[in-house]
Amino acid sequence: MEIVILPDPDAVARTAADIIQASLENGHAVLGLATGSTPLGTYAELIRRHRDEGLSFADAEAFTLDEYLGLPAEHPESYRSVIRREFTDSVDFPDGAIHSLDGEAPEPEAEAARYEAAISAAGGIDVQILGIGTDGHVGFNEPMSSLASRTRIKTLTEQTRRDNARFFPSPEDVPHHVLTQGLATIREARHLLLIGLGEAKAPAIAAAVEGPLAAGCPASALQLHPHTTVLVDEGAASRLEHRGYYQYTLQKKPTWQSF
Ligand code: PGA
Repeated sequence: MEIVILPDPDAVARTAADIIQASLENGHAVLGLATGSTPLGTYAELIRRHRDEGLSFADAEAFTLDEYLGLPAEHPESYRSVIRREFTDSVDFPDGAIHSLDGEAPEPEAEAARYEAAISAAGGIDVQILGIGTDGHVGFNEPMSSLASRTRIKTLTEQTRRDNARFFPSPEDVPHHVLTQGLATIREARHLLLIGLGEAKAPAIAAAVEGPLAAGCPASALQLHPHTTVLVDEGAASRLEHRGYYQYTLQKKPTWQSF
């Protein structure tokens, strides 16, 4: 894991956008997109680069990470809607290039299998953006998710439902069930980009990066991946025991070495 501590969320967004831009400029790119508040700055920066600097997504496609079960696709809080509103409708992805799970699929298990096959058919994900839950989840892989899990149904913890209640008219409206890419699915992406912002994420970031590999902190599964970049602001980095080493590593990073 490469841990990159940056002064503020804007610096995190610019660095994440640099990594995605490099992937886009490499030829056909398959992006893994997270929803939630964390990547919004990154998406805003990518939209700005598209508008002001001609950054193009015309040769890219994207897969979202997860979806609420039972929400119609057109519901404003379905992740299919959210990713279009917050990001993809504002850049130039080709028609049909944004792939999402169907939260209303009559057979969720078949839908999960369809999604796994679609990711494989696209050649796998090049760069997967990930936020982290206060309980250490990535995607919606809640604590005690199998480290070998594939896309499937999960039940949200009450903590996650409370965290996400801000997006819904009332806390009771947050669905209990979701479809999510599994931890093994996520680990098949070629480059994982875990973003943590703010002090509320500091315990989860510390557990993911420096804690034991354990199902109790699903994000710790990223320790098994050969190319994970963890981008954090000062707040999210505040519980890291080895932060001095990460800062030293960044200062000494060879100029030829990319993230
Ligand atoms: P957030 O959610 O970005 O809205 O904090 C992250 C997550 O739950 O994965």
